[in-house]
Amino acid sequence: MTPATATATAPGKIILFGEHAVVYGQPALAVPVTQVQATATVARLEVAPLGQPLEAEIWIEARDLRRRYRLRDATPTDPLAAATRLMLAQAEDQALTPFTLTVRSTVPIASGLGSGAAVCTAAVRALSAHLGLALSAAEVSALVYKTEQLLHGTPSGIDNTVIAYGRPVYFMRGQAPEPFAVARPFHIVIGDTGLASPTKVSVGDVRRAYEKEPERYTALFQAIGGLARQARTRIEGGEPGQLGPLMNRNHALLQEMGVSCPELDRLVASALGAGAAGAKLSGGGRGGNMIALVTAEAAPGVAAALKQDGAVRTIVTEVS
Ligand code: PMV
Repeated sequence: MTPATATATAPGKIILFGEHAVVYGQPALAVPVTQVQATATVARLEVAPLGQPLEAEIWIEARDLRRRYRLRDATPTDPLAAATRLMLAQAEDQALTPFTLTVRSTVPIASGLGSGAAVCTAAVRALSAHLGLALSAAEVSALVYKTEQLLHGTPSGIDNTVIAYGRPVYFMRGQAPEPFAVARPFHIVIGDTGLASPTKVSVGDVRRAYEKEPERYTALFQAIGGLARQARTRIEGGEPGQLGPLMNRNHALLQEMGVSCPELDRLVASALGAGAAGAKLSGGGRGGNMIALVTAEAAPGVAAALKQDGAVRTIVTEVS
């Protein structure tokens, strides 16, 4: 008998180094952000099965979007429906009964904090608990990757990886992720431009630009990959203070790539002016979030400066 309810959570994430270049095989570093999270609950429906296909008796409720629908009626690109179907397939010939999958999330949507992957990770975890399936982080990540493909087309897989592992990861497309140790914790202020920016659009624009100027873009990607490698060495070596210049350089390369925007550049300048050791956009760019490296003492001042200069939200997170 499955439990009456099963609940699971998943954090948000930020990319410290390597967005976009990671799509082209370069390494990237990402860390979970536990100040925001997605929660999913699976509740068994105490009704006798109506004898219709099970998909008519499974409900999905996306609280933040105020939507409730039957699995049967979900659109083909609905990531929660995909997650549910993938999990039902894992359950193989278990006798399944009607249930409702409810999700809610404090991870801002389309802003580079991994909202889609967080919601689907929470859903996969709650469904696996409901169905009595024990999945490893790698298995959860692989399932969530399939849902990410519906939204992004060709995601690198970094979002589902860092969120499913819940640890800092060094990620290269097509290779096993390497969770890495943070020798000395450090603080990051996240500033949200408030501009929703779908990753698919900026990734598509970079693709077209790369196809037009393959050599220039390959050089940009390689330079960014080099920064991600150096950054990992600094973090593992207990020298996070050295990350500042690497972040500034990464931001400049992303600007050259054409994925920054005036609002992101303004927040980056604002953070540096208020005492951050380095700052860059994080995620797909063109909006969404930027991040700044700060000491614990400088964090409130940098967060205040970001608000003053237009950030709609700031989050201070410790990477540890
Ligand atoms: O916008 P986000 O946080 O989902 O970041 C996407 C990161 C990219 O490198 C731009 C795309 C990808 O698939 O890795």
